[in-house]
Amino acid sequence: MRKAKTISPVLRDVIMWLRETLIALFVVSGVINILALTGSFYMLQIYDRALTSRSIETLIAISALAIGLYLFQGILDITRSQVLVRMAARVDDRLAPAAHRVAMDMPRYGYSATEAIERARDVDTIRHFIAGQGPIALLDLPWMPLYLIFIYMLHPMLAFIVLGGGVILALLTLLTEISTRQHSSAMHKAAAERASILDANVRNVEVIRTMGFLGRSVQRFDDINRKHLALQLRTSDIGGTYSGIAKVLRMILQSAILGLGAYYTIKGELSAGSIIAASVASARALAPVDMVIGQWKGFVAARRSLKRLKDLMAVLEGDAARVSLPKPRNTLKVDKITVAAPGAGVVVLSDVSFELTSGQALGLIGPSASGKSSVARAIMGAWPLARGAVRLDGADISQWDADQLGGELGYLPQEVSLMDGTIAQNICRFDPNVDSEAIIAAATTAGVHEMILRLPDGYETAIGANGASLSAGQRQRLALARALYGNPFLVVLDEPNSNLDAEGEAALAEAIQVMRMLGSIVVVIAHRPSVLAAVDMVGIMQGGRLTAFGPKDEVLGQHVKTSRHGVMQGEKGTSNQGEQRWANRRS
Ligand SMILES: Nc1ncnc2c1ncn2[C@@H]1O[C@H](COP(=O)(O)OP(=O)(O)OP(=O)(O)O)[C@@H](O)[C@H]1O
Ligand SMILES: [Mg+2]
Repeated sequence: MRKAKTISPVLRDVIMWLRETLIALFVVSGVINILALTGSFYMLQIYDRALTSRSIETLIAISALAIGLYLFQGILDITRSQVLVRMAARVDDRLAPAAHRVAMDMPRYGYSATEAIERARDVDTIRHFIAGQGPIALLDLPWMPLYLIFIYMLHPMLAFIVLGGGVILALLTLLTEISTRQHSSAMHKAAAERASILDANVRNVEVIRTMGFLGRSVQRFDDINRKHLALQLRTSDIGGTYSGIAKVLRMILQSAILGLGAYYTIKGELSAGSIIAASVASARALAPVDMVIGQWKGFVAARRSLKRLKDLMAVLEGDAARVSLPKPRNTLKVDKITVAAPGAGVVVLSDVSFELTSGQALGLIGPSASGKSSVARAIMGAWPLARGAVRLDGADISQWDADQLGGELGYLPQEVSLMDGTIAQNICRFDPNVDSEAIIAAATTAGVHEMILRLPDGYETAIGANGASLSAGQRQRLALARALYGNPFLVVLDEPNSNLDAEGEAALAEAIQVMRMLGSIVVVIAHRPSVLAAVDMVGIMQGGRLTAFGPKDEVLGQHVKTSRHGVMQGEKGTSNQGEQRWANRRS
């Protein structure tokens, strides 16, 4: 895996664009904040000029001026909010597809599905923050000194009080953050765990119900839910207490300005208008502090999301457009590959090497957990290699553009999973330029064309989430058609006959023959020997190693010879039982 030294280009563009827009908005915020002094100046003018001079004209003139300034400020305010909302939408628009891609790639590197889904939500968190009040508060905050200077000019002591109050409020926020940080990360973890139990329970409901552990499953959910609730309660309590204290402090501060103002007025150091002006200005000075405090959680969450995305995208995001290589035609070379299971880190394949040429089919056999499916995942590029290389016509598969290469690969995983959509969409891999001929050709080769025609809507039948409306055998054969779509050069079928009947198996053997004739390379993993009829090469996996590889007759002959004792005994056992059964039937 590459180190996260660089930042992903998509994210870099977005951040640079954000920075430029924010600088412009910062300047606009300066103007808004200067205009926001209008209220205070208006008070000063009313009390200290209009009232003392008792002139109605002056009153009207300064009022008209104030209204004009208010309107201008309002327009700027509205514009600023609108720009921020659009900015959020644009960030989402640019970031979401890239983040989604990264999330889809995460399981490959050992992250859980829940983590992947959370990462995909990070973009929502960022958009939410940008479109909310948070950025406005952050943009206004640096302009706080403007009000402080204004108040200072009225009376230095008042400015110190406001500044001190602001600092204490900020410290309170910091304290809240520190004392809830631990709980919030535990709460996050509990929420993720809860989501994964919920997901597992819903997915396994048939098993859970029939075997009577519904109660226990609900209990499992309830346990983690309670833990989550308790943590949430504690975090809210702490947050609530601090915000309560902040509110009281805020009220005291506001009154203190008035009280102190009155004191200085009595002493003759301040005019009456100044009290009101100072009060209005101090409210405005502290407003962004209040807002920042209110938006702090969102800010922290957005920052955390951005950092996670930054790290993951730098590591996982595939390189931008690669050179298009010519279609592979001749060879598949698996060159000393060693593979560790993502996340677990256990080596599941060591030093596996073999080579196949166009038109050849390999039957890969071996006991359970010997690494057959791991070979399939490795040569399809689904799992990263720790060492070695998989080459098509000499070029490492990692050199290919993934989408281009995908068209040359056909993969039927051991656990078939189809996607919510129509049969045609599933076969053509959701290609928007539907090629009906290719779809029908793939279905025909896979031997499912007739079966599909018998369905109520034929190729347009919607199969539901994960093909829920089909039988296991139907799903498997449909997945075979998907693997064969577009006559890919390399087809890997992982136990393609596990759910098939005799007719299905015959169709499968036929499909392998057809693919070989078209010049493809086919790798079939099988427990049952029937599939081996269609292959010319055989490999045997044992304990993560390829212990035998070669032409079918040679390898199978060798295998029988070396393990004659066990195999013969086993065979004898079965044939004896068989004979016994026949004898019983006859009698
Ligand atoms: N996601 C995973 N995380 C950790 N270990 C894994 C993972 N997938 C497979 N393994 C391990 O890799 C080894 C090989 O598994 P693999 O699925 O390749 O076996 P297989 O030969 O296909 O078995 P079967 O015939 O049962 O399908 C096993 O020991 C298994 O425990
Ligand atoms: Mg397997």
